[in-house]
Amino acid sequence: MRTLIVYYSRTGTTATIARALASRLDANMAEITCARYSGGIWRYLRAGYDSVRGNLPEIEMPVFDSDEYDLLLVGTPVWTSYPALPIRAFLDRKPDLPGRIAVFLTHGGHSPPQACIDKLAELLPAPIEAKLACNSAQVTAGKYADDVNDFATKLEKRSIK
Ligand SMILES: Cc1cc2nc3c(=O)[nH]c(=O)nc-3n(C[C@H](O)[C@H](O)[C@H](O)COP(=O)(O)O)c2cc1C
Repeated sequence: MRTLIVYYSRTGTTATIARALASRLDANMAEITCARYSGGIWRYLRAGYDSVRGNLPEIEMPVFDSDEYDLLLVGTPVWTSYPALPIRAFLDRKPDLPGRIAVFLTHGGHSPPQACIDKLAELLPAPIEAKLACNSAQVTAGKYADDVNDFATKLEKRSIK
């Protein structure tokens, strides 16, 4: 199973899960960066404002060769109930992606993660095989290893079917 992790993380929480998954699955990571939202409270407010309106930002596209991978994991924070705008901007460009797809997200616990997953399902070119949702407080407290392991094991089992 050759796995690529494409993710966006404004404040490091989703990046923590991305790194844990990369280590568990021996995967490569490709980060989406977006200068428009990096920084403190004003950038947070700008992210919320843009997210409510669905204004897609300029992003730095990650570089990878999709032919080198079987499985893609897309990682995003939840913003105003939906995937963070830099992930939506990435998928809007219709990049070539590996055939199998799973998603992981982190959220603050003030909205159910299902709307974010449904939106990702709309934007992705293949069905979502598996999903992982992590509460940001749990991630900060370091309580995510079991969830990451269960998610990774599920993906490994599907690949040997
Ligand atoms: C603009 C913005 C909107 C957010 N909206 C939600 C939300 O609707 N529901 C929720 O549970 N958390 C929301 N959050 C919290 C983030 O999903 C959470 O803190 C996440 O773990 C941050 O990930 P990161 O550190 O990788 O950027 C929002 C955060 C931002 C910056």
